[in-house]
Amino acid sequence: MKRSILFALVFAIASNLLPKTVLANETFDAVCAACHTGGLRGMISGAPNVKRPDAWRPHLSQHSPDQMLRIVLNGTADHKARGGCDSCSDQQITEALEYLLSVVQ
Ligand code: HEC
Repeated sequence: MKRSILFALVFAIASNLLPKTVLANETFDAVCAACHTGGLRGMISGAPNVKRPDAWRPHLSQHSPDQMLRIVLNGTADHKARGGCDSCSDQQITEALEYLLSVVQ
């Protein structure tokens, strides 16, 4: 009994100590990764790959994180609104973008 409480405590502390960038983001994995991790849809669409920070440099120099959020939320001629995820909340899209930026910056 005592041991399981101790284990739960150690686990809770350890998971809080993990840097956020190590933990992937669910919305990113479910929605954005299809195009932004260099797979087939990424190649077809020409989406910058999160594994290649140099591919993000032109985007980062042209748009602030706020502008990027607007691009992703509202969509542009080059970008589907919410990456095509109509059921995603603003909060989920914001967190997916924060995760993406933490990886490429
Ligand atoms: C259907 C493929 C596709 C999906 C899904 C997708 N993207 Fe993109 N994304 C693109 C393409 C293509 C570009 C490059 C064109 C452009 O600049 O808008 C891009 C560019 C971007 C940019 C850079 C915009 C700029 O020019 O500053 C950001 C940020 C971004 N995507 C975030 C996301 C996020 C967050 C998600 C998930 C919610 C997502 N994308 C889902 C295809 C996709």
